[in-house]
Amino acid sequence: MSNPSPSQTGADREPGVAMTLDRLGHPRVHVAPDYQSLCVAVAERIAHLVQVKPDAVLGLATGSTPIGIYQELVRLHQQIGLDFSGITCFNLDEYYPMDPGDDHSYHTFMQQHLFGSINCRNWQVPDGRERSLETIAEDCRRYEEAIEKAGGIDLQILGIGSTGHIGFNEPGSAPDSKTRLVDLDESTRLNAARDFGRLEHVPHQAVTMGISTILKSREIMLIASGAGKAAIVYTALNVLVTPLVPASLLQNHPNASFWLDSAAAQALEN
Ligand code: GLP
Repeated sequence: MSNPSPSQTGADREPGVAMTLDRLGHPRVHVAPDYQSLCVAVAERIAHLVQVKPDAVLGLATGSTPIGIYQELVRLHQQIGLDFSGITCFNLDEYYPMDPGDDHSYHTFMQQHLFGSINCRNWQVPDGRERSLETIAEDCRRYEEAIEKAGGIDLQILGIGSTGHIGFNEPGSAPDSKTRLVDLDESTRLNAARDFGRLEHVPHQAVTMGISTILKSREIMLIASGAGKAAIVYTALNVLVTPLVPASLLQNHPNASFWLDSAAAQALEN
């Protein structure tokens, strides 16, 4: 594996992206002027994959950040007929305990923001229904198996939590972790309180793909928007790789990139 030189880095700039920061090694960093153009650029990458590989396997994320990307994919489906009928999608995570039909479930989120409006029928979100620990462990094993059976994830979309978490892999998650039940950090619960109305309503646990599940993806795009993400984005890219900052583990992936708007990139540009 050879690192891109600064001149190469500038030469293959992505459409819709204002600049690709000149930094050696991985991950590559693409900066769009604002959230809207960031979403269009990322959606174009996904659309390109869906066109060249109609049976592609996508790993998808929730949170406020990818909403604009999903809106753009829905627009491409409705206006130019982008066809999702052959693709398979696996979501990163789900709160626990959480019924799929609950307003706050990531299952409902994906239905509302994407799958209810495109022609993809083959999608899964980890099961958050309350059940025995043995059954959860068995279902997590099956989730891993289903990803492998589908051929592995071609492109994984990630957000980043304020703790540096990816999926719900909080600081300290083992690099070899797989899909499993995890405890949520209090800061993650606090951030989620805006969606649940009250902190007391936010679950204490979640089922998440593991770090190793994520790192097995052939390509990973981490998306971040807004000044509130600038510090953790800077840390993830510059700290020595450590499980204490789960997103820093992407530095070891040969095909990971960070896609930022200028506010999320401000600490890097400084
Ligand atoms: C949740 C999700 C993460 C997501 C994070 C950031 O914790 N489990 O996958 O990356 O939120 O969310 P937002 O995009 O709203 O900042």
